[in-house]
Amino acid sequence: MPYQSIRDLDLNGKRVFIRVDFNVPLDNVDGVMKITSDKRIRASLPTIQYALDHGAGVILASHLGRPKGKPNAEMSLKPVAQRLEELLGRPVTIVPDYIGAADAMKPAPGEVVLLENLRFHSGEEKNDIEFAKKLAALCDIYVNDAFGSAHRAHASTEGMIQFVPHTAAGLLMEQELKYLGMATRNPARPCVAILGGAKVSDKIEVIENLGKIVDRLLIGGAMAYTFLKAQGHSTGRSLVEDDKVELAKKLLADLGDRLMLPLDHVVVSQIAAGAANETVEKIPADKIAVDIGPKTIDAFAKAIAGAKTIIWNGPMGIFEKPPFDKGTVALAKAVADSGAISVVGGGDSEKAIKAAGVAGKITHVSTGGGASLEFLAGMELPGVAALER
Ligand code: 3PG
Repeated sequence: MPYQSIRDLDLNGKRVFIRVDFNVPLDNVDGVMKITSDKRIRASLPTIQYALDHGAGVILASHLGRPKGKPNAEMSLKPVAQRLEELLGRPVTIVPDYIGAADAMKPAPGEVVLLENLRFHSGEEKNDIEFAKKLAALCDIYVNDAFGSAHRAHASTEGMIQFVPHTAAGLLMEQELKYLGMATRNPARPCVAILGGAKVSDKIEVIENLGKIVDRLLIGGAMAYTFLKAQGHSTGRSLVEDDKVELAKKLLADLGDRLMLPLDHVVVSQIAAGAANETVEKIPADKIAVDIGPKTIDAFAKAIAGAKTIIWNGPMGIFEKPPFDKGTVALAKAVADSGAISVVGGGDSEKAIKAAGVAGKITHVSTGGGASLEFLAGMELPGVAALER
């Protein structure tokens, strides 16, 4: 690995700053902010526990939401501190004022403090050098475990690294880079990628990059209809990005028969959960495609069954409106049954895996949304590049 691991450092008696990604979804329930998924908190527990077990005083830091450089009570990390206390079984003190407070902040070995939302300070997203130095002054060792934020060149993910003598990747960061790297750099073959979601424009770089790597690329979801239009098929009232049809033609030519598109479609007149629907091979002019049909499920599942590596990002239809989650859930089952190394990113694919009850059979579910897409697009992640430097 071109960077150090937390396991390479002596943490005993040190102040260890761990940049985590606790950007968790919150719901305002009668004025009280409630965490709706603590997955990202749980994902960094092994790193935090490792630091505590090795005698560190732990300083945790994260952003939450996009408060635009100003304090905002709805984006406080207080609910996260509470949840973390429950999960760790020890007190977690939230620190609102930490800038310039290096002398006052010396967590003893075994102690955990959580800095209030980094983005309450404008210096964080601006990657301001003075702000970065002040964060660096809080610690002896810097650990980046925030894979979900590794595509951001901010003070806590990039800028401060040059001012801390010892830096390393946390266990979650290592795991993410290991599996995403395994799937894209030297995959066991055949390597199959499944891409879905609404827009081609969100995933152009991913399609281009994976197109150079994979043996088969299966495209479903609304983005498939831009490709089908480029092939001259009728798409009815399905979501098509007209300004991307020319690009789709080029991608079709580059990928040739490695690209698989839907062969049949579940269509409706109006998008609503439980709407009357039918399965067609040719989409009528007044219909909207909302899921892949059984013939497509069969063809995609066959490609998946023969794979040794699978990369999956994005749903095959309007997953959030049953029964139009059928195609996505069927593919989740096929991925789980394949026995291949499977790497999944994106909230909807993850929900499909849970709905199919196959979470335990997936090799790695990434905690990164934007970060995993940029990784799959072959882009350099500033947070990782800084650790490598
Ligand atoms: C994410 O949720 O993708 C990361 O936490 C980054 O958040 P951001 O898009 O607000 O930078």
